[in-house]
Amino acid sequence: LVLGVDSSTQSTKAVLVDADDGTVVASRTAPHPDGTSVDPRAWLEAFDAAAGPLLPRAAAVAVGGQQHGMVALDAEDAPVHDALLWNDTRSAAAAAELVEEIGGPAACAEAVGSVLVASFTITKLRWLRDHEPDAARRTTRVLLPHDYLTWHAGGRRSAPATDRGDASGTGYYSAADGAYREDLLERALGHAAGLPRVAGPNEQVGTTEHGAVVAPGTGDNMAAALGLGLGPGDVSLSIGTSGVAAAVSDSPVVDRTGVVTGFADATGRYLPMATTLNAARILDLHARLLGVDHDELAALALDSVPGAHGLTVSPYYDGERTPNRPDASGTWAGLTTATSRADVARAAVEALLCSLADALDAVAQGLTGVDRVLLIGGGAKSSAVQALAPAVLGRDVVLPASAEYVALGAARQAAWTLSGSAEPPAWPLAGTRVLQAEPTPAVRDAYAALRDRAPALTP
Ligand code: XUL
Repeated sequence: LVLGVDSSTQSTKAVLVDADDGTVVASRTAPHPDGTSVDPRAWLEAFDAAAGPLLPRAAAVAVGGQQHGMVALDAEDAPVHDALLWNDTRSAAAAAELVEEIGGPAACAEAVGSVLVASFTITKLRWLRDHEPDAARRTTRVLLPHDYLTWHAGGRRSAPATDRGDASGTGYYSAADGAYREDLLERALGHAAGLPRVAGPNEQVGTTEHGAVVAPGTGDNMAAALGLGLGPGDVSLSIGTSGVAAAVSDSPVVDRTGVVTGFADATGRYLPMATTLNAARILDLHARLLGVDHDELAALALDSVPGAHGLTVSPYYDGERTPNRPDASGTWAGLTTATSRADVARAAVEALLCSLADALDAVAQGLTGVDRVLLIGGGAKSSAVQALAPAVLGRDVVLPASAEYVALGAARQAAWTLSGSAEPPAWPLAGTRVLQAEPTPAVRDAYAALRDRAPALTP
């Protein structure tokens, strides 16, 4: 048996899996604080609560973690500040500043694979230097959430390690070169700091107190791709706290416009991605405003019509990253006295899907073709999302049986590390369903019109 852990923005999930075929035999979840900045020690407690009871049964363990979070540690390896997470936009000005210092968006994409926005770790280090100089001065080591947890899983007996996938979201690692850019980290923070070594995709990085192998782990999106077995021609659309379109590529992808991030994956290849800050929370907010639960929201949405009788939502609540509008807020357009609760629910689901469709288009631009779109993440459980996704995307959508692939992907990496084989174990993708619907292109046109008008509506 092997254990896979998903330390997400919301909670920690652990799944105990049969290493031969990927069957889940047990799973546990523990809450931890969510938000945009968190004391990283809370994740260690949640890891112990979720994974602790399952660990003695596992021969290997791996952690998939939310990407980008800044875990800045002092000489005693205590956090100098709460971890600033991928969805914290306070470092937007620092991001713009660093992009300029590196020589502009194109030079930045060439240097580290992505045009920096507030999500990237390096921008948070610059923010720390400028706003918490004492904490910045005390920082001697910088880890990512999954590195911190992996180190903890091995009882801190080995040196901290990371993998190419998660490293490629820091802004001080070049996936194309497979090397850190410590000069950029130093520029951002004001001085050098220790970094975890970058382990190979199936290289053991530690041993648990029970003698189990600790695998390198990776970022949650890389783990999801591994759990799904994402292959050439596939694009996954994930509806979690973030919305993510991701594809596997054999060569590094460099998008100078900054919409697509040129990450590495967890197998030695690359994982171009477009990420939104607002995904499942679009449904959460509209359900809360309507005073309904998620099933009722879905039923209401399906009671309305394509285009929600003219109601459109720009869902860039508290800022957005794709498009890069860290200061945006949400907008409703087309409200009339005839607008119904069903229209409000419908507009939410359509806004979510249109925003994902934008992300999908951006990622598809760098690919030779898209054969299959897979829908995953908690938001994919919504019956309205399932019914409307093929209509809004204008194509068939594959719905795998489970929506949660991060922990499974981490488990697959653990099994791979345990086996020592050249390739990850071939686990079948269980019970996929193909969703089909008549395309509704007018829905995307209305969304695009509001999206392009929205900057003028926000400060
Ligand atoms: C990806 C990103 C998010 C987090 C969510 O760039 O910021 O998908 O990894 O956990």
